[in-house]
Amino acid sequence: MAQDQSMHLAADISFLHTDYLWRMPGSWVGYPYYSSSEFYEDIARIADRGVMDMLFFGDTGGTPEDYGGSYHAVVEHGAKWPRHDMSPMIPLMARAAQGVGFAWTLSTTYHHPFHCARLFNALDHVTKGRVAWNAVTSAYKNEAANYGYDEMMEHDERYVRADEFCNVACKLWDSVEPDAVVLDREKGVFMDPAKVHRIDHRGKYFNVRGPLPALPSPQRRPVIIQAGLSPPGLKLCAEFADLQFSTRRTLPSMQAHRAALDAALAQARRTPRDIGILWSIRVEVAESDAEYAERERRYLEAVPPDAGLIEMSFQFNVDFSKARPDMRVADFAEEVASQKGNLGSFDEIVKTVDPKLTLREFSKRYLLDRVLAATGTPKKIADKLEELHYGTGANGGFILARGFSASDNLKNFVDFVVPELQRRGLSKKKYTGRTLRENLNG
Ligand SMILES: Cc1cc2nc3c(=O)[nH]c(=O)nc-3n(C[C@H](O)[C@H](O)[C@H](O)COP(=O)(O)O)c2cc1C
Repeated sequence: MAQDQSMHLAADISFLHTDYLWRMPGSWVGYPYYSSSEFYEDIARIADRGVMDMLFFGDTGGTPEDYGGSYHAVVEHGAKWPRHDMSPMIPLMARAAQGVGFAWTLSTTYHHPFHCARLFNALDHVTKGRVAWNAVTSAYKNEAANYGYDEMMEHDERYVRADEFCNVACKLWDSVEPDAVVLDREKGVFMDPAKVHRIDHRGKYFNVRGPLPALPSPQRRPVIIQAGLSPPGLKLCAEFADLQFSTRRTLPSMQAHRAALDAALAQARRTPRDIGILWSIRVEVAESDAEYAERERRYLEAVPPDAGLIEMSFQFNVDFSKARPDMRVADFAEEVASQKGNLGSFDEIVKTVDPKLTLREFSKRYLLDRVLAATGTPKKIADKLEELHYGTGANGGFILARGFSASDNLKNFVDFVVPELQRRGLSKKKYTGRTLRENLNG
């Protein structure tokens, strides 16, 4: 984020077609959401209008079988399922909107760094330098089975692989120097071989000779995002990332998280301003608290009673359908830890949830309360974002997560909240750079 204190804005658009939103007014039902790009092109244009930095597609390649031991519930309800490969949508969206950037997710556990480096180099070219890579270690059982693992790799070992993966990918992106292209017609020299380098990497998981057979892309490396919350996750992030995603649920826990990341950055000989955090937040604009309450009621009515348990089961690789009525969230801490999954996020829930609530009570609002929320009038939402932004050192911004209506949620944010943020001098009125990295830095 360099010294830039402005509030950066992004939106997670991974689940616009699932998560019960298809039951809400204004949703995509009847619209060919994947076989046509218009819906996503519109979203890119809306984000551009709000001078948002980035639209994000998460990815996991699985069909969760944790709840009740089968995929029945996730398929029946469309709970984070299906998941298409959204990378082809990015170039189409980039043509429709010239300012906003695009983040896509690729697993360091199941893919190869050569493929990753080549793919993101290509995406960076076609988006004219507006792409980011969300480097994830993948914490889901059914996904592991799809990539040939009977057992999911251990949590910390996934980070060992991720560290080598990122190292190789970065070496490949750096293997062709930016001024290597000569294109001298008279001498017949296309590129200068002295500026193109083998990497000769031999490691525990990968042997890669290099160089990357590609022209250097506008950003050279994509913007790298890492969302690890555990100690090895923070370490990986501190070493390679430009940006972090985080789902802390209260201001004190956000502040503690920022401090933990800063400590990891110091260990990696980098500074706090080298990595901004985009905090996940659910934003819902309403004319009054009463109108908001009505929307919330309508949404909760559209989700099945076990929706929270279904989602938690997927998230933490544990069958929460077995929860007895008296069980608390903390009662599952050991079982979650033994599953090698999203340890950091569950720990955050245990620390911040009201200990009096039973798991079943908590799960009823899980779809709403898993991340922070800012709801109500644009002024009230801007007040909350401003408080959280300055309370955490004005070093990053927010990524909108969830919301009660597919594209209307983003539209309302851009049309009603962004002007208020801009009026207060919090967010940008125009794009300042050509690339995503430049926009994030200034
Ligand atoms: C906003 C956000 C988006 C994420 N997106 C993905 C994703 O698309 N795919 C995935 O496998 N994990 C995703 N994760 C999970 C993280 O990569 C990471 O596994 C998780 O935060 C747990 O961290 P830990 O492994 O250090 O405990 C996301 C996390 C956050 C906070």
